[in-house]
Amino acid sequence: MTLPARVRIVEVGPRDGLQNEPVTVPTAVKLGLVERLLAAGLTAIEVGSFVSARWVPQMADTAALMARLPPNPAGRYAVLVPNLKGFEAARAAGAGEVAVFASASEAFSRANINCSIAGSLERFAPVAQAARTAGIPLRGYVSCVLGCPTEGPVAPETVAQVARRLIDLGCYEVSLGDTIGAGTPDTARACVAAVAAVIPPERIALHFHDTGGLALANIRACLDLGVSVVDAAVGGLGGCPYAKDAPGNVATEAAVADLDRLGIATGIDSGRLADAARFIKGALGRPTA
Ligand code: HMG
Ligand code: MG
Repeated sequence: MTLPARVRIVEVGPRDGLQNEPVTVPTAVKLGLVERLLAAGLTAIEVGSFVSARWVPQMADTAALMARLPPNPAGRYAVLVPNLKGFEAARAAGAGEVAVFASASEAFSRANINCSIAGSLERFAPVAQAARTAGIPLRGYVSCVLGCPTEGPVAPETVAQVARRLIDLGCYEVSLGDTIGAGTPDTARACVAAVAAVIPPERIALHFHDTGGLALANIRACLDLGVSVVDAAVGGLGGCPYAKDAPGNVATEAAVADLDRLGIATGIDSGRLADAARFIKGALGRPTA
């Protein structure tokens, strides 16, 4: 299979990036970030999550942020929801898209959402039903697809089974998370190929954290499998709670530049994207390139 002509970037920085920051970023700064991301041409933006504020206090202002966001007519603001309670809050806040998040590892499922993989899928069923009734698109995540901090290697077949269940529930797309950045080009490709054997590859997104420094290489290794959606976080925000000082999600600016080198269009203005990265790194007191 050949490389895609175009890749859709899903910007997850305001959620996946900022949820891992040791400080809670003020709502006004999050708003400034989303405005700059929009200006750079990003339209699929994950802005927060409706989860327990005890578990993730950094996302507790998601409703307040959403109330202040500018219109996004070309795209959708998405949020994570772990259960029906989160879905109801997301709908009340006017979310354009919701995402449920499962895991391919039992240990991570318990650590992240306090239930088994099977239990999480049971919780997601009423969310999927409610999303369908409300006409809100539903996305699904699978975490730990290339390794778990507790269980180690994860079988591609296990990832494929969970991804298939999410599609069967009604997710329009499943994003495969290398949560701890443990993947290599070989393991990433094997995993995506296994998932593509059970769901159409155009419904797969790559969500690679850069902990091991291989996120770009791992994305490259999967792009000829029919995948054309990449999740990324501006400024490489995020880090990983299991690896101190590790980089976060693959940086949006690095992903866009690498895709450009491959002749793959993203529609993103890299100058304005750099502005967004400078803005949030400045607000967090991080060095800027
Ligand atoms: P639990 O303690 O089992 O839930 O947590 P519970 O139903 O017993 O409720 C406990 C308390 O939470 C109650 O409040 C509920 O009302 C409240 P209390 O009575 O104690 O005051 N609660 C909620 N509050 C707000 N919104 C909700 C909600 N649900 C219950 N939706 C729960 C289970 C799922 C709630 C908890 O484990 C949780 O919130 N986990 C969030 C984990 C999270 O956000 N992780 C980060 C996102 S996933 C990720 O980053 C991976 C990804 O990027 C892909 C990748 O890289 O792999 C997506
Ligand atoms: Mg993530």
